[in-house]
Amino acid sequence: MRKEKIVVLPGDGVGPEVVEGAIEVLDAVGKRFQIKFDYEEKLIGGIAIDKRSTPLPDDTLKACKECGVILLGAVGGPKWDKLTGKMRPESGLLEIRKKLGLYANIRPAKIFRPLISSSTLKSSVLKNVDFVVVRELNSGIYYGKPRGIKKEKKGKKAFNTMVYDEATIRRIAETAFKIAERRKRKVVSVDKANVLECSRLWRDVVEDVHNNFSHIELSHMYVDNCAMQIIRDPAQFDVILTPNLFGDIISDEAAMITGSIGMLSSASIGEKAALYEPVHGSAPDIAGKDIANPLATILSAAMMLRYSLSYEEEASAIERAVEKVLKKGFRTKDIYNGRGKIVGTRKMSSLVAENL
Ligand code: IPM
Ligand code: MG
Repeated sequence: MRKEKIVVLPGDGVGPEVVEGAIEVLDAVGKRFQIKFDYEEKLIGGIAIDKRSTPLPDDTLKACKECGVILLGAVGGPKWDKLTGKMRPESGLLEIRKKLGLYANIRPAKIFRPLISSSTLKSSVLKNVDFVVVRELNSGIYYGKPRGIKKEKKGKKAFNTMVYDEATIRRIAETAFKIAERRKRKVVSVDKANVLECSRLWRDVVEDVHNNFSHIELSHMYVDNCAMQIIRDPAQFDVILTPNLFGDIISDEAAMITGSIGMLSSASIGEKAALYEPVHGSAPDIAGKDIANPLATILSAAMMLRYSLSYEEEASAIERAVEKVLKKGFRTKDIYNGRGKIVGTRKMSSLVAENL
């Protein structure tokens, strides 16, 4: 029996429910493939603020650093919306990304065939959609200084700073080209080089890194055009390389073309650790009602098996089980469009576990 340790951070809102679903599926994988998963549960986000007065307690960070394999639910909610800056639940997530050096955020947008009719887009547009967003996660306007809100005579003034340095751009560009090597060998780099200096440097460095990857096709796209192209013809994309803020927006858009944001998984990868989480947030309005879609988290757990633990066969088994359950017509509310059978979070998770 092989043994693997995973740090689990359920967080807020629907986080605990969807993580519970993923654990059920992991345990089923363990049974079938002779792996014993050991889970260490830790606090992050709003619940950590409530219990420990900080969104990222030291012991959470320590456990994550030591283990390096992390599964996260979601953070945030209206209860903590009045808090500011470092005391916000989201700051726990931003801090853990920074402190563990999780610089590459990988968000695959693949259409599950049985879900084509759940998307708000026409099925002709969705045929053959399979791309991945590679988002820089450690820099840009999320972290740049100075930042703040000042009181001035005329009223308040707020400011943030977008910063990118060469090394940061080089590292994420290399990641994107390497991912493209294993796919359709096409990278579209997203920027706003017609306006922003950060984007001009981004474009120059991406071009430079491309010299070492000349077998990959590279093109550049302004972020506003990219947002339009994803809706107009999403099948044109293979790898979309983006800075932090643009990637945040583009990846939510990409989620919707796959039917529902409840389907989109993600990996945030660094040199020594990686964190896996659904792209959707804590969805406080549906928390605790057993209606959230656990599939994004279950698929994130599959990414974890593949990328952090090198269990390729096991990861594919989860993905196939998800496909099978969808094919049989089971749907959570967010992906239901009149046909099939609506099931809750728990039932959907057990169905995937049973269909492994
Ligand atoms: C995401 C989320 C986070 C982000 C928030 C919760 C800070 O939207 O992972 O996309 O903006 O990166
Ligand atoms: Mg986001």
